[in-house]
Amino acid sequence: MTDFELTRRRLIQVGGGAAAASLMVTAESALGQARGVSAAGQPMPEGVELPDAPPRQRRSDSVGFAIIGLGDYALKQIMPRFDQSERAHIAALVSGNPRKLREVGEAYGIPPESRYSYDSFADIAADNGVEAAYVVLPSGLHAEWTERAFAAGKHVMCEKPMALSSEECERMIAASNRANRKLMIAYRCHFEPYNLKAVELMEAEAVGDLRLIRTEHSYRMGPTTPAENWRVSRALAGGGPLEDYGIYGLQAALYLSGEMPERISAATHRPIGDQRFAEIFAHVSVQCRFPSGAAAHLVTSYDSAGLNMVETRGTSGALMMQPATNYSGNTLTLEAGREKHDLSPGNSNVQFARQLDHLADAIRGGTPIRTPGEMGLRDVRLIEAIYASAATGRTIMLNPDGTMRS
Ligand SMILES: NC(=O)c1ccc[n+]([C@@H]2O[C@H](COP(=O)([O-])OP(=O)(O)OC[C@H]3O[C@@H](n4cnc5c(N)ncnc54)[C@H](OP(=O)(O)O)[C@@H]3O)[C@@H](O)[C@H]2O)c1
Repeated sequence: MTDFELTRRRLIQVGGGAAAASLMVTAESALGQARGVSAAGQPMPEGVELPDAPPRQRRSDSVGFAIIGLGDYALKQIMPRFDQSERAHIAALVSGNPRKLREVGEAYGIPPESRYSYDSFADIAADNGVEAAYVVLPSGLHAEWTERAFAAGKHVMCEKPMALSSEECERMIAASNRANRKLMIAYRCHFEPYNLKAVELMEAEAVGDLRLIRTEHSYRMGPTTPAENWRVSRALAGGGPLEDYGIYGLQAALYLSGEMPERISAATHRPIGDQRFAEIFAHVSVQCRFPSGAAAHLVTSYDSAGLNMVETRGTSGALMMQPATNYSGNTLTLEAGREKHDLSPGNSNVQFARQLDHLADAIRGGTPIRTPGEMGLRDVRLIEAIYASAATGRTIMLNPDGTMRS
């Protein structure tokens, strides 16, 4: 049994309620700080296609990004999309695998002096071609490397989840303020045409008064262990599927309702004897109640057949998205009475470059960031409330900023 499980059990025994929940969250945060995990190079992911020629830089005022962590998402999704960006280019790479760093650096035209290891990262402060850092590391390393990037004087794009505790998020925001540099969370769906259209329809009351949001973000993970896969290691992934995948459903519930939940109740499940779930949860199921009276039911799992779905139901219609939050191929259907309309608001693929350009615009023009650190903090607070509810079996009452009421 892990320290986390011991803490959880002890608190449940000591007495339920929000006091126990907040104690548990504090204990979790303390565990988080003492996690003792560090950045370490990994092999080249399978199936990576490196470009034949470096992406071009479109504008003279383009912002140079350092990519921190050359993993699956960075190499297959983010780095190739710089070619579609108007105002962002890759100016440096940071990796703990020297061979991969060289291969990727050559393919992307990054000179050897702008290729950094985790040990030499501090030197990036003097690299004037780098203005922003994109943190694409395992989630448990986001806080540390965001703070390091701010210490080096760079702006930061940080992958989701922002961090594994609200304390870490608060530290990241404070570091951004101290450095006077921007902090953006890479919530790509805020730049994805189908999700943007869904928000527009909800704001126009296309389904009438909202009654229910249902989301599911699930897939079945193959056999693995915490030693070989950071996604099942508590120190690097927190509780597991909720932080990694279910966070899309949580986000969608907030941007489609336009509200913050006032109460949350949740259940988690962790099958015994399965190495995949020695440290993390297999399933998380959440019920939210919003001030308007609307409800949300969010499900996420690493152990059930794949589904990526968001649905809103109101007094006069419904919106269905399946898949809802993918890299490409999302769908959106508006049901009104007996009519069904399949909508095609654009190409989902543009979300990556738009996200990069959004931070570049904020850096150059001071425009507000749509997905700031405060949004990441809000979501991590809700995740903490979800785990507190699951641990205590109680409904957690929330303040409008997502903190637990007592
Ligand atoms: N927005 C999205 O749609 C989306 C999708 C997938 C992932 N993500 C986020 O992107 C981040 C990375 O996910 P990923 O799927 O790319 O993971 P991944 O394939 O495992 O890559 C992570 C990379 O981080 C570096 N790293 C440093 N220390 C590490 C350690 N102790 N253990 C493992 N890797 C370490 C390694 O790069 P080097 O070998 O170069 O050092 C590794 O290749 C996560 O925060 C995840 O939530 C977001």
